[in-house]
Amino acid sequence: MNDRTAIPVQPLSETVDENYANAFQNAGAADKYAHVTYAPGSYAWHINRRQRAYLRGLIRRSFPDVRPTLHDFACGTGRAIRNVDGLVWAAHGYDTSPEMLAKAAELGTAARLHTVATGGPVPEPAATAGPALVTMFRLLLNVDDDVRERALAFAAKALPSAETGLLVVENHGHRRSLRHLRSGRHAGRRWFAELSHAQVTGLLRRHGFEVLARRAFSMLTPGWYERPLLRRPARAADGLACRLPGSAAWAVNVVYVARRAG
Ligand SMILES: C[S@@+](CC[C@H](N)C(=O)[O-])C[C@H]1O[C@@H](n2cnc3c(N)ncnc32)[C@H](O)[C@@H]1O
Repeated sequence: MNDRTAIPVQPLSETVDENYANAFQNAGAADKYAHVTYAPGSYAWHINRRQRAYLRGLIRRSFPDVRPTLHDFACGTGRAIRNVDGLVWAAHGYDTSPEMLAKAAELGTAARLHTVATGGPVPEPAATAGPALVTMFRLLLNVDDDVRERALAFAAKALPSAETGLLVVENHGHRRSLRHLRSGRHAGRRWFAELSHAQVTGLLRRHGFEVLARRAFSMLTPGWYERPLLRRPARAADGLACRLPGSAAWAVNVVYVARRAG
């Protein structure tokens, strides 16, 4: 059995990739993503706040002398790029949706924005000198294996060796978490996918990456953030729980930091 077949494939809808990429190719979707999904106080907004602090600390610790160039794959409206504002030498965002990129520009994202094809040859990272930071937020979960492999192949091109920098990827639907309890209710629904640590680690390993750190950014599901009486304590408790050692093992939202092995 080779490495590719060893990783269980997450069954999604048959045409999930075309549909997934298409779902972001209109101005309304871009607007909703930026202003509703990430509305101040929302579940995603709280997670983003935690991720922002973590990413900024990670860059300061990992690139103390020379600032890295950021390559944000599937950058969407540019939230990850804006999160590291002022800490990177230059930033490049890559996405299949011109509308998401237009929203990123409208929101003042300081980056060169590149439209990439949904399939076909692996996109080329922009040529840069010095260390690189490759980020991939909220992409891997809802796409199929071909897109996952292609995204990681892009990261491997931007990070040809261990010394060239770091990769940061997000899994916003970790299987072994409270969210899994809802999987029965959502069975067969288009965007309900789950990814295990083993699947993410296996994917990274196939492209020559080793995981250096795993970090939790939410232990709870969105519903806890929305209930009138519960939401304040739930948000506070979730933020604290994410800092506990080992919390990533059970987290809903997990970020992996990796570098090329060897
Ligand atoms: C949920 S959004 C995430 C945006 C951003 N990374 C974030 O976390 O805010 C998913 C993004 O992936 C992009 N996308 C979908 N399929 C893609 C593909 N095959 N290659 C690159 N980007 C893709 C979509 O256009 C969309 O902007």
